[in-house]
Amino acid sequence: MNRTVYLDNAATSWPKPSSTIEAMVEFNRSIGANPGRSGHARSVDAGRTLIDAREAVAGLFGASNMLGVIFTKNVTEALNIVISGLLNDGGHAVTTSMEHNSVMRPLNAARARGADFSVAPCSRRGELDPRDIASIIMPDTRLIVMTHASNVTGTIMPVAEVASIARERGIPLCVDAAQTAGVIPIDVGAMDIGFLAFTGHKSLFGPQGTGGLVLGKGYERMIEPLMYGGTGSRSEFEVQPDFLPDKFESGTPNTIGIAGLGAGIAFIGQTGMDAIRTHEKKLTARLLDGLGSIEGVRIYGPCDPERQTAVVSLTLQGMSSSELALALDEDYGIMARSGLHCAPSAHRTIGTFPEGTLRLSPGYFTTREDIEHTVEAIAALAVRKKSGAKT
Ligand code: ALA
Repeated sequence: MNRTVYLDNAATSWPKPSSTIEAMVEFNRSIGANPGRSGHARSVDAGRTLIDAREAVAGLFGASNMLGVIFTKNVTEALNIVISGLLNDGGHAVTTSMEHNSVMRPLNAARARGADFSVAPCSRRGELDPRDIASIIMPDTRLIVMTHASNVTGTIMPVAEVASIARERGIPLCVDAAQTAGVIPIDVGAMDIGFLAFTGHKSLFGPQGTGGLVLGKGYERMIEPLMYGGTGSRSEFEVQPDFLPDKFESGTPNTIGIAGLGAGIAFIGQTGMDAIRTHEKKLTARLLDGLGSIEGVRIYGPCDPERQTAVVSLTLQGMSSSELALALDEDYGIMARSGLHCAPSAHRTIGTFPEGTLRLSPGYFTTREDIEHTVEAIAALAVRKKSGAKT
């Protein structure tokens, strides 16, 4: 077995475009200085690297002001800034039952500090009826926070409809775009998203350790930073600057990673988000089709490439998801993630808690042959299991 197939793009995309890697090498080789701290040429070039990436993020997400793009180390940090910022001293939030622990854990931590939250139930396919969000809003609701697409089933959520409910009620909406940024268009201005939390290392083709928060106009005033410290600006003051992005960006940033993120976003621009999504939809359709006819396989989620990202969650009768993942890895070179995917609430919703599922997540660099190999491998394992052979 020489072939390897990487189907864990929902965890992190791989491979990265060579331009991402080159941008990082080039930053380290030719720039390498600390941005915004010193006046010398290479510090200025490092600052330019951040500005270029900030502009790229703002352009991608329709943000009117690139200074409202805050870089963080991941989407989790961005979600924490918003959730802890808005529920710091009480209040109520609304979310869905398909959330990742990056939303559920900060919400539970806020609850332990005196805030509260309510959860809109989703269907067994992970789908949300926006009316179920509207019906749990309370007079003291300060935040609606929800995923744009489930990391377990790929289900794409009705964010535009929820945004309009949020707008009508005057409540800020925070969207967790971990699974969609770079593959499904998002326009924070047109959709009136107050806070867009994104990761850099999935469909934006950047490296791990990158992510951020796009702040809608005026929303930055609602929240306080999670971290305070040096920004390279207004060094005469021992209190945090209140202007953007410095208010939320303390300490030396991951400039090398952000250089890679900028290149990843440029790759999307050159390739076309439509082309990326179309390719991933085709792979998803073939996976759904091929796996759907294997006896003993059960697929979760919408089972419709138009209504989900390139994520297919399944179980195989008679085998745990971790056994299945191990057999795929060891016997067929197929890398996928099994278990609860840090999203126990989502698994409860679709009826797979606590066993979990096997999640196959192709990406832009996955080929049709990779998918055929995977379908054949799971078919062979299903036959092996049925015949009682040891897996
Ligand atoms: N949240 C990422 C996943 O779903 C890591 O695998």
